Amino acid sequence: MADARPVVWVSQPLVEAAIAPLRDRVQLHTTDTVTAWTPDQLAERLAGVDGAIITLNERIGAAQLAGNARLQVIANVGVGYNNLDVEALSAAGVLASNTPDVLTETTADLGFALLMATARRITEAERWLREGHWGQWSFQTMLGADIHGSTLGILGMGRIGQGIARRGAHGFGMNVLYHNRSRLPAGTEAAVGASYVELDTLLARADHLVLVLPYSASSHHIIDAAALAKMKPTATLVNIARGGIVDELALADALAHGRLAAAGLDVYEGEPTVRPELLALRNVVLTPHIGSASLGTRTAMVHLAADNLLAALGLAGDVSAMPSAINADAALAARATVGKKGVKR
Ligand code: GLV
Repeated sequence: MADARPVVWVSQPLVEAAIAPLRDRVQLHTTDTVTAWTPDQLAERLAGVDGAIITLNERIGAAQLAGNARLQVIANVGVGYNNLDVEALSAAGVLASNTPDVLTETTADLGFALLMATARRITEAERWLREGHWGQWSFQTMLGADIHGSTLGILGMGRIGQGIARRGAHGFGMNVLYHNRSRLPAGTEAAVGASYVELDTLLARADHLVLVLPYSASSHHIIDAAALAKMKPTATLVNIARGGIVDELALADALAHGRLAAAGLDVYEGEPTVRPELLALRNVVLTPHIGSASLGTRTAMVHLAADNLLAALGLAGDVSAMPSAINADAALAARATVGKKGVKR
């Protein structure tokens, strides 16, 4: 008898323990090796399936959806979803979801780790030691900047920003300032220990500035040469959001010429390529987009993506049971227009 279960494609090797429960419910097509899918290959993979679980490396837009009458849902394993053209997905009646909340604290941990490594020159010091320079140690070797008692600036005060604020204010006695599209309620500001300031004030006063805002046309290169020029030359900059928020060439120039002390980057505009101008600098800590990379959190992210997918496919309640849908109303409204039927079971 034909297998009536929906077909689901998983674009990359994920966490098997979290994927396994899906195997009874859907026909699962997994990917065994890490793959850089081309835009055409993505369209081909999506053509024959009801749903897909993807990572931020897969960019899905109108070209990947053209002529695809079957696809119901794209479950993105990640909180940021600038890899998805949400408008195109909605117009095609395709539901989309992300994985917020479960990664908040792990990502805030990484942000803080990067801040500390950058300010205290941890990776630079380790390289120096491994290269056999300890014999030249002096009282002035690897002087960095203090974390405790300094001013922490946070640009983007969503859940992860708030997690970083709490760590700074309550753990390290930092003076925490933030800027965000909308100001937090007074009670939340008090709980996380942060005060709202205008962007220019944030740039001017931060000893350590952490970027945690979503990437969009309005945040593209928000940290450009002009913004960097407003920062203290002794300041450090940490980016755990998206590479495109920073003009990397302007950043490299500021770092190379002493207009900014150091930077810690987990994200890059051309991932997985890192600009040679950044690689050449000693005062940059570079990590390969590992904000949410703890086993527990990555497992929770895949579980959440799977829960979204099952609800979208009608296998665990209906669309309203998707824990973190991005475009449910728009996608369902478009289905009537494009003649796409949801999966009824
Ligand atoms: C990682 O960057 C994510 O958006 O989850």
